[in-house]
Amino acid sequence: MQKLAIIGGTPLRGTVRISGAKNAALPILCAGLLTADDLHLTNLPDLHDVATMRRLLEQMGIKATPGAGEITLNGAAVDKLEAPYDMVKTMRAAILVLGPLVARFGEARVSLPGGCAIGSRPVDLHIKGLQAMGAEIHIEHGYIHATAKKLKGARIFFDIVSVTGTENLMMAAALADGVTVLENAAREPEVIDLADCLRAMGAKITGDGSDTITITGVASLHGASHRILPDRIESGTFLVAAAATGGDVTLCDTRADLLETVLEKLSEAGAQIDVGTDTIRLRMTARPKAVNVRTAPHPAFPTDMQAQFMALNCIAEGSAMVVETIFENRFMHVQELRRLGARIDVEGNTAVVHGVTRLEGADVMATDLRASASLVIAALLAQGETVIDRIYHLDRGYEHIEAKLSQLGANIRRLK
Ligand code: UD1
Repeated sequence: MQKLAIIGGTPLRGTVRISGAKNAALPILCAGLLTADDLHLTNLPDLHDVATMRRLLEQMGIKATPGAGEITLNGAAVDKLEAPYDMVKTMRAAILVLGPLVARFGEARVSLPGGCAIGSRPVDLHIKGLQAMGAEIHIEHGYIHATAKKLKGARIFFDIVSVTGTENLMMAAALADGVTVLENAAREPEVIDLADCLRAMGAKITGDGSDTITITGVASLHGASHRILPDRIESGTFLVAAAATGGDVTLCDTRADLLETVLEKLSEAGAQIDVGTDTIRLRMTARPKAVNVRTAPHPAFPTDMQAQFMALNCIAEGSAMVVETIFENRFMHVQELRRLGARIDVEGNTAVVHGVTRLEGADVMATDLRASASLVIAALLAQGETVIDRIYHLDRGYEHIEAKLSQLGANIRRLK
């Protein structure tokens, strides 16, 4: 099992390029199932999850021609309409093949994702939505088996805002008969990016970015080229790392408009932020001030940035409250941060972080993707060496993280 060894205490300085967004790349790769033509994607991040999704699509019969930071998918020969358990269990986003398969081929067998480290994360909304569009769904032997001669447009209300739920049904509706209206839909930028790609493929979609998305089904979709938008969570993670270490970092190939609440919170913590067309510069010259955060669906503060702000608050001046409203078990980094000397009290979905003046390096364990990012940030500001175990979580969602951090002056190495 690979580990990261980090000797903390060096402020991050320099420029780093932000990669394409994982959470946009995964649904957009699945859009390759919706057409028999070529779908050409650029700004594709080199991540484990992207590789897993590509393998899954290839198993189904997609022809994938990769290049550097790009890929061309061709779905003319798709013949295996199944996502097996061993893939879905390592990457929950594999559920995103369900909508496209049923819409184009009238059938899909997708494993239920099962438990997940950050909570139970059911897929009932994906299933109910497809049923409302006329799909017959049976759960058998741990698999969702869905069939439909032809999906029909429907009005679908999400009880809970779901990002991949919205994306799955948007893709299904793109090839359904008639009009589908998704209400209480997710407004995340990655949903808009998927809608942009689907429109380039000939889909008729309006309202993405609002909570009501209208999709008028078309008979078929064609090939297209699409550039994946920058990763706002990778951007936010580097900015928090810069702020926590008292650094001066410029992100390029990013978009500040995707990060409004995160930038607001960083300003509140005392960072000076300058935004350019596709750059964000953050400078921090004093000890950060503690900032309260409360996660909620976009455009509110993202749950995928909660753990990183927890790390920042660990060494901030004052105390902060961190409230997690999306996932029921997303405080697993707390135990590990405490091993570095953090003072954090947890009661239900609320953590109170009492800032201390320094953290000390120790051995810690990564438990999920964003929890791992918070441990990296804590390690970068701790005195001495921290060794982070189980970093495969990190490789799922951060492209070349140790190379990028080294470039900014961090003392970081991978232990194999
Ligand atoms: C996506 C992101 C993930 C992010 C999350 C919330 C991808 C690939 N992943 O995950 O990084 O943390 O959004 O912003 O884009 N729920 C149900 N039933 C369902 C679906 C969801 O109850 O059928 C619940 C979940 O348990 C959770 C909440 O809805 O409590 C939001 O989850 P959802 O938006 O679906 O998360 P994902 O799309 O899996």
